[in-house]
Amino acid sequence: MKNILNAPFIIKLAATCENMYRLGWDERNGGNISLLLGEDEVSEYLDTSKILRVIPTGFEAKELCGKYFLVTGTGKYFKNVKGDPENNLGVIRIAEDGCNAELLWGYQDGGTFTSELPAHLMSHMVRLKQDSEHRVIMHSHPTNTVAMTFVHPLTEGEFSHTLWQMHTECIYVFPDGVGVLPFMVFGTKEIGEATAEKMKDFRLVVWAHHGIYGAGKTLDEAFGLIETVENAAQIYMLTEGKERINIITDENLKALAENFKLPYRKDFLD
Ligand code: 13P
Ligand code: ZN
Repeated sequence: MKNILNAPFIIKLAATCENMYRLGWDERNGGNISLLLGEDEVSEYLDTSKILRVIPTGFEAKELCGKYFLVTGTGKYFKNVKGDPENNLGVIRIAEDGCNAELLWGYQDGGTFTSELPAHLMSHMVRLKQDSEHRVIMHSHPTNTVAMTFVHPLTEGEFSHTLWQMHTECIYVFPDGVGVLPFMVFGTKEIGEATAEKMKDFRLVVWAHHGIYGAGKTLDEAFGLIETVENAAQIYMLTEGKERINIITDENLKALAENFKLPYRKDFLD
């Protein structure tokens, strides 16, 4: 059995957490990530018949029975993941009843998975239906994205349109736009359900006054989506209150979308 600390999925996820912390997106224990793993991938490093603990998830996720996830721990700081993966991360398998998680590795200090597991698992279920190669759900608190939710209307058409207008790459990276949820209590089944509902149409979901969710086939893809929104939100916040004398018009956006044959949300343009 190979040493799991050398597994590419641990190394890459830890490096992603470090990046996100260094970018200032994940203060304290802010943010969480879950990565869907294949059984063969896990079996190289762990005896999958050895269950360390059974932890109730608090909801039913029958469709994910037998699926393996690498998940950040609740209350854990992204800045500490790389130096101490075994306390800050866990490998879980969704049990046959769909209501429990079987811990196979990690959360060594007695900890458990992120409090946002409902939003993660429900979003995984939705995204897997859209894309069989889907693997990652990532949550973060990027400052400018959150700031924008205080000063910009929260309808997803308007929010997506403004982001597209802040940088020419935005419509290219997320032609599907972003979903937006109003203030909701975080860590609940309700916000998990609402996030997953948005994930039917979007790979990005902004939580007003809190942060953002991104979905992708890889850690880089989910990270890159969030990074692009945050970059646009920063430009928005830097120019907000000033007269924008040069803007990206809808004609410009249409020309870009047509040039790259993007499946963009046409109803989000004026
Ligand atoms: P966890 O520490 O439980 O992952 O929660 C962090 C967070 O960002 C809540 O939304
Ligand atoms: Zn959060």
